[in-house]
Amino acid sequence: MRIITRGAELRALSRRARQSGMTVGFVPTMGSLHQGHLALIRRARRENHRLAVSVFVNPLQFGPKEDYARYPRDEVRDVRLCRDAGCDWFFAPRARSLYPPGFSTTVSPGPLAERWEGAVRPGHFRGVATVVLKLLNLVEPDTLYLGQKDAQQASAIRAMVRDLDHPARVAVVPTVRDRDGLALSSRNVYLSADERRRAPGMIRGLREGRDLIRSGFRDPRTVLAKVRARIRDEARPDSIDYLALVDPATLESLGRIEGASLLIAAIRFGKTRLIDNLPVARPRSRRGRRG
Ligand code: PAF
Repeated sequence: MRIITRGAELRALSRRARQSGMTVGFVPTMGSLHQGHLALIRRARRENHRLAVSVFVNPLQFGPKEDYARYPRDEVRDVRLCRDAGCDWFFAPRARSLYPPGFSTTVSPGPLAERWEGAVRPGHFRGVATVVLKLLNLVEPDTLYLGQKDAQQASAIRAMVRDLDHPARVAVVPTVRDRDGLALSSRNVYLSADERRRAPGMIRGLREGRDLIRSGFRDPRTVLAKVRARIRDEARPDSIDYLALVDPATLESLGRIEGASLLIAAIRFGKTRLIDNLPVARPRSRRGRRG
């Protein structure tokens, strides 16, 4: 595995590989890798001749009061995990090389990025879209791999790639969870032992919502009221930033459950925010509708 800090070097390697008929897969990360990242890396490894993984804690996507400074970093471990997973190119650019003095152009995603996470974290998706487009332009991959865990990020990047005619294909990989259901996240290390015990209450609430839809409930308000009660009861978070049942493509709230939907939630324990989501397939039959 080659460790690369200069974008020009990575671009040259990737172009050479693609010119000789190979495919290139790309997994962008902020490091502190866990099994969720490794699921993306393994899938990209299987599907491509060459694999690039980037590790870059992107200052542009953190608000002034957010956790940029304390975000977990462990590059030595990340390098080892990527090497063991068969990565070809480990890209760890420095902030001053991605954002040199005078850097001023950013990508502004559309309305999809203004709701939910975007409303709670203004500017977040501008930072994400900007760095992902820069990375795509450096790596020039055939396929970009993203996690379902950050569903809104995946939708915003998919929209950006489509709207700006980037040739990369976007593949979204299912969320990896701990045995008790908690979605893996680099931010889980912030949880106290007690918060960690309560945190799976969020996914248990979302699963209850999915089960209600499967059993015939069609009114999002009824479903969400029950999910909220379950999350309050079991996770006992300090607050629920949002809980919604949305269209999986546009992330707009649904008035009625007819097709596929996505349950999304963000909760807070003190200063720690956790997000999660659960895709719900289109209900199969109209029989047994319950509200
Ligand atoms: O999901 C992440 O880790 C980041 O938002 C990403 C996509 C690597 C951009 O910095």
